[in-house]
Amino acid sequence: MRKNHKYISYIFLKIIIDYINLINYFRKMIMKDCFNFQLFHTNYKTKSYVLRYRKTNFLNSSNIIQKLWAQFGITYTNNYISLQDIFENNKPIIVDIGFGSREYFVKKAEYYPNINFLGIEVYFPGILSNIKYANLYNINNIKIINYDAIDVFLYMIPNKILTMVQIFFPDPWPKRKHHKRRIITDVFIKLLSKKLMTNGIIYIKTDCLSYAYHIKKFFKI
Ligand SMILES: C[S@@+](CC[C@H](N)C(=O)[O-])C[C@H]1O[C@@H](n2cnc3c(N)ncnc32)[C@H](O)[C@@H]1O
Repeated sequence: MRKNHKYISYIFLKIIIDYINLINYFRKMIMKDCFNFQLFHTNYKTKSYVLRYRKTNFLNSSNIIQKLWAQFGITYTNNYISLQDIFENNKPIIVDIGFGSREYFVKKAEYYPNINFLGIEVYFPGILSNIKYANLYNINNIKIINYDAIDVFLYMIPNKILTMVQIFFPDPWPKRKHHKRRIITDVFIKLLSKKLMTNGIIYIKTDCLSYAYHIKKFFKI
């Protein structure tokens, strides 16, 4: 009887695991389909983020993304792109790295219609909410790249074309053993600097004191 009970629990557990695997498989298929790129791809072994999928209705979302991606999205490529051609104007360009799930990114673009905003984010629900807002309020000065910002800056963004790069509240990775995951390093700041026009600005906000001291080292302040 006891053995039977164990056997039933085992089968039940297996069904749940299979179910979760199946859901994850479909999520990945849908995401791949939407963006036409390899998920989880990056050239870096240590990433500055962990991908999270929770709280998203993927079937519904994929329909929205498929409709709106052509308007707001730029698919990752290994070649430099012309942002002037993509935005179809010569207005100043601000890049927001990791704009997150709230709609500050798109609302800022709404507030400054004479500036082009390029957002780079790996978090799918964040992209979704910003794209939905942009569509609803007819905001056409934003574009979004769903990829690791480091790769995007290395391979897609040409030199000397950005007015500002903003990174608001980058993941702090407060534990010492996780510091290597922090996106802001001297190498990354040098890379960003190359992409800025003369007198361009790197605008960083953080509420993590140890990260603030770490970042300060890379600037003459
Ligand atoms: C703590 S959140 C901050 C969100 C937003 N900037 C804010 O102020 O609320 C950090 C964001 O950066 C994104 N992120 C981290 N590393 C990234 C990377 N290498 N490329 C693109 N986005 C990244 C994460 O997905 C996350 O949404």
